[in-house]
Amino acid sequence: MRRITDLKEYFDKAAVYWDEKPGRIEMTNAVADAIAAHVELDPGMKVLDFGCGTGLVSMHIAPHVQTVYAADTSREMLNVLETKIATLDVANIKTMHLENTGIPSFHVGQFDLIITSMVLHHIASISPLLCHFVSWTRRGGHIAIADLEPEDGTFHTDSNGVSHNGIDTEWLRSELTALGCKTRISKSIFVTRRNPDESGTPRSYPLFLAAARKE
Ligand SMILES: C[S@@+](CC[C@H](N)C(=O)[O-])C[C@H]1O[C@@H](n2cnc3c(N)ncnc32)[C@H](O)[C@@H]1O
Repeated sequence: MRRITDLKEYFDKAAVYWDEKPGRIEMTNAVADAIAAHVELDPGMKVLDFGCGTGLVSMHIAPHVQTVYAADTSREMLNVLETKIATLDVANIKTMHLENTGIPSFHVGQFDLIITSMVLHHIASISPLLCHFVSWTRRGGHIAIADLEPEDGTFHTDSNGVSHNGIDTEWLRSELTALGCKTRISKSIFVTRRNPDESGTPRSYPLFLAAARKE
């Protein structure tokens, strides 16, 4: 498995052109729209965007909530987001640099909503992180996870830093249920089409959204 410092290095290098990759804006718009369709956003909400990257999803959610805490292990990704925050004078996104990929020390019940987009497939051991997500969410609060549905391993051109070829949504639902969450899974909230197969047909890489409510 790739060492975690390398994963940080990979995302640090990707940060400057992250928003320019074809389909990226459409994908994150679709994720933000799906979150808004499944969770009633509220001006009092404190939201954690875990693995926020350049904040493409954070920027969509921020106008509808009190504060978005945009957390990432990549300093360069956060630099890009901080430039957007300054340029657009966004007052309610607070960036948080996670120095290492160990579990950060947020408080129990600190957030009304945790969102995470395209991060879980980079996490080798997902279960402990889900456990912390649930702990950091207040009772009645929400966790919204968007990621790739299981794929054949061709989504990433560089598979370094990829721990899972998509996420088994039934496994995810059962993990969240065991942690006391009621979970709705929506499949194909967005579909990336690229990498033609032998017949020349582009492969499809659908994304799901898991919207969990902490009971
Ligand atoms: C594929 S990018 C997705 C970025 C953003 N959420 C989006 O949808 O555009 C994955 C992000 O997760 C971050 N990341 C990876 N492992 C992490 C960890 N253990 N804790 C926090 N962030 C992490 C990376 O630095 C990167 O910015």
